[in-house]
Amino acid sequence: MSMVIALAGKGGTGKTTLAALIIRYLKNRGDGAILAVDADPSSNLAQPLGLTPSVTIGSMKETFLKGRDLLPAGIPKETYLELKLHELLVESERVDLLTMGRPEGRGCYCYVNNILRKYLDLLTENYAYVVIDNEAGMEHLSRSIVRDVDILLITTDPSMSGIRSAKKVKDLVIDLELSVKKQYIIVDRVIWGLSHHLLAEAERLGLILWETIPEDAMISEYDLIERPLIQLPEDSSAVRAVNRIMECLLV
Ligand SMILES: Nc1ncnc2c1ncn2[C@@H]1O[C@H](COP(=O)(O)OP(=O)(O)O)[C@@H](O)[C@H]1O
Ligand SMILES: [Mg+2]
Repeated sequence: MSMVIALAGKGGTGKTTLAALIIRYLKNRGDGAILAVDADPSSNLAQPLGLTPSVTIGSMKETFLKGRDLLPAGIPKETYLELKLHELLVESERVDLLTMGRPEGRGCYCYVNNILRKYLDLLTENYAYVVIDNEAGMEHLSRSIVRDVDILLITTDPSMSGIRSAKKVKDLVIDLELSVKKQYIIVDRVIWGLSHHLLAEAERLGLILWETIPEDAMISEYDLIERPLIQLPEDSSAVRAVNRIMECLLV
């Protein structure tokens, strides 16, 4: 059974950064293969992992449905789709990447979704860890593309609106009846510790701000020169924080 770690939170609060640094940690730990799932259509997990993005599941579904009449004659559409599925995976040493793309538009996607679900169920069994970078609404999780989440990390920045959004994500987990075993809130981009205003608001909302990741100039620098975050050195303050968090989570 693979361990599924999912990231959720408002846009710009560090989900992709945290996903990349978690994958960095797991890769260096070396105790099993990792499947990275980019489930946020508005971001790009390939870049911080130093990988080239491939066909997304969303675009494959659309092409498949639109081009239904162009399918090779004599091959059942299910078989043809199964043949195409391997094109979705970008492979690298110990880390493979799957990109969800946009959730589907209108149309009959049922049989495509059924085949995909079977494929993803089989695929995830090959990995020790599955790390999912979600969008705030957790669309793909709610469509049960991945069934059970072992650890959900909700990211926020150290702002009032950030932690109120974190509360909304927590509520969404309940509303969507997602299967989540454990969930924690992580405050990213912390500069001088957490202010008492923020802690008071968290308490009012019934939130525990579990861990923090400091603002790290190296992340900004890597961003500017478009260097993959997975290559950050061990002495980056954000890397140290994420490594500490992961050691706590994996004991
Ligand atoms: N600890 C940090 N230190 C410095 N910059 C950070 C840190 N965490 C995230 N960032 C920057 O903040 C921006 C938003 O982060 P990102 O991970 O893309 O958020 P999300 O995936 O939630 O939209 C990015 O430009 C990223 O480089
Ligand atoms: Mg992102």
